[in-house]
This record gives sequence, C-alpha cells and structure tokens, in this order.
Amino acid sequence: MSNKATRIYFDNAATTPLDPAVLEAMMPYFTDKFGNPSSIYSYGRESRLAIENARKTVAKILNAHPAEIFFTSGGTESSNTAINAAIHDLGCRHIITSPIEHHATMHTVDHLYHLGEVALSHVKLLPSGHIDMDDLEQLLANSQQKCLVTLMHANNEIGNMIDLHAVGNLCKMNGAIFHCDTVQTVGHFPLDLRATPVHFITGAGHKFHGPKGVGMLYINENVKIKPYIHGGSQERNMRAGTENLYGIVGFAKALELATEQYDTQSNYIKGLKLYMMEKVKNVVPGVTFNGDPLGRSLYTVLSVSFPKTEKSEMILFNLDINNICVSGGSACTSGADQGSHVIRAINNDPNQVTVRFSFSKHNTREEIDFVVEKLKEMI
Ligand SMILES: Cc1ncc(COP(=O)(O)O)c(C=O)c1O
Repeated sequence: MSNKATRIYFDNAATTPLDPAVLEAMMPYFTDKFGNPSSIYSYGRESRLAIENARKTVAKILNAHPAEIFFTSGGTESSNTAINAAIHDLGCRHIITSPIEHHATMHTVDHLYHLGEVALSHVKLLPSGHIDMDDLEQLLANSQQKCLVTLMHANNEIGNMIDLHAVGNLCKMNGAIFHCDTVQTVGHFPLDLRATPVHFITGAGHKFHGPKGVGMLYINENVKIKPYIHGGSQERNMRAGTENLYGIVGFAKALELATEQYDTQSNYIKGLKLYMMEKVKNVVPGVTFNGDPLGRSLYTVLSVSFPKTEKSEMILFNLDINNICVSGGSACTSGADQGSHVIRAINNDPNQVTVRFSFSKHNTREEIDFVVEKLKEMI
C-alpha cells in the first residue's frame, strides 16, 4: 500500500515532484521518438529538432541566445564546468566566494585552491547572512590578479538572495568573471539575462517540477571556453556524449510551465511561508528564523531554529515517523554529523536545532496546521 496520500512533503528545495504535463511531453521520446539526435535520417532529425526547440524555449524564457544555453546533467556539473573554465580558459587566478555556497561550488573551489591553481578569498557575511557588499568591493579592488566571483543567487538552506545586478556590476567594474549558482531561482524567479551582468548561470530541472539529472549552463556569448567533455560533437563540441533527450525536453517543458504559472504560484507559496512563520512563532517559544526570511529571500524556503532540548534533538526523527519530510541543518549535531556549513557560518549556536521547511504549489495551509501541531508535541 502506498502512503503517498498521508505523507507531507516540505522539502521542495531538495527536489520537487515531476509535473504530469512534463511527463506527457517527455513520453514520446522514451518510446516512438527514440532516434539518436546525431543520426542524419528522420529518427535522428526528429530528436535533434526536439533538443534545439527545447534550447530555444529555455533561451527565450531567460532572454538569452540559444547558442548561450548548454544542457548538462544538473546544477553540479554546470557549476563545476563554469568554475573550471574560468580558471583554465579565462585566466582567473583568484576566486572570491562565500562561506555559504552549495557544495557543488565550495568543493570545486577548494579543490582548485588545494591544487595551488588559485588564491582564495571568502567574502564576509552580515548578521542577516547576506554578503557584505563593501567587503566584496574591497576584495575586488585589492586583488592583484584576474578574479572569478562565484556567489549563489539564492541560498538553498536559508533562502537569502544576493542582489544579482549589484554583484554583477561590481564584477564588471573590476574586470572579474561572475558565476552565479541560480539552481534555486531558475524556474522560481524571472531572469532577464540580456540585462544581467553575469557570465555563467546554472539550472537543474528537478527544482521546478522537471526531471532529475538534467540541467543547464548559460555561458555568456562574450566568454569563450574550451570543450570540457571530449568525444563527439554534441552541445556544439563542448560536452560530448549522446544527449539526455527526454530529460532536455522535460527541462524545457517544466521551465515553460513554471514561467506561465509564476505570478500565481509565487504569491501562493510566499503566503504558505508567511503563514508557517506566524504559526510556529505562536506555538513554539524561543523559535528563531535563519537568514532574512522577510527580506531578500526565496519564497520557497523557511529555515527554523528550535532551542535544543533532549526532545527537540530528536525532531528530524520524529517528523519522519510522522510522515513529514523536511531537511535538517544544524550548526553541529553529533560527532558523526558535521552539521551544516551554512548554519555554522551564520549562527554558530550549538544550542539550537535547525530544520528547513521548503514549499511548493502542492502544499496547503492544512498541511502547515498539521505540522505545527506535531511540532508543538515534539518540542
Ligand atoms: C543551490 C544549489 N546548487 C547546486 C545544486 C546541485 O544541483 P544538482 O543536484 O542538480 O546537481 C543544488 C541542489 O541541491 C542547489 O540547491
């Protein structure tokens, strides 16, 4: 028996369920339209057309040129590619990043640093968890080498967002390359890349009701990088290997739907987040919210810290046995668990237990009422 109906899924920043309309768009490419996109006969041409149409759709939505859109396996590959290209192809020798980046960025940057290929600086954070723009300006101004700035658009754990244009303009003024991990915002916020000073952005289909294992990398037409997976001539010689045809079709369809639904869904989901904040505040004494949830913040994410007690330490376990799906992320938990580097960087309080609730269009206020009632019992 499936217990799908009785589960509450509040972990949409981790992944989202596939939209049935996306599955419908993908289905023919699993069955009848199976041709290899590189084949020259009709089956192949049909597949090639589907990929190029998907590229045009994505480019149009992001206001980019189709030649600037590369399909990848997801956010991790896209960020790895952009960061490595900035160092190896574009001459960057100094990386400026933050202590709260996703591991896809953080571990790539650390790897290059440990190889001795780059200098590394971390921009300071303000008490709100936002990056200190004055410090970024100083780091850029004082750098003796060409810089790569890699800062995420929206943080997946606490929801804080950078001012993309302000960071991009600072980079531009200082001749720096700017990579922005937009995995949590592509499909959730309108982006106009023609009007945004950024060299690389990234996306992952499964964050906006598309399929897993497919993503995109936008590479601004003014930067020229070298092929990064060698082999066939796919993705304009940059990323060899037979394309994830149905994934790419699904990615474009999901982005199309998310864009059509943006106004209504974003307001609805923001309403859920605010409702949850109010309810938790009223019910659980001593609760705090991480980041800047009422300021420049993702409407999908709410990071809550509860006072640590014997009972609250078991919160993730207790939520799970009550069929409530959320993510953890505390400054430090047990010896085996390193805890969250993001929470440690913004709030190094070992006496708190942190839970990330993240919402989608499928969630309801009734679910929030139920979860808050359970939280009351658990804390
Ligand atoms: C901000 C951010 N960047 C990168 C990634 C990595 O994306 P993927 O798992 O699709 O490679 C994620 C996914 O968790 C993310 O939230």
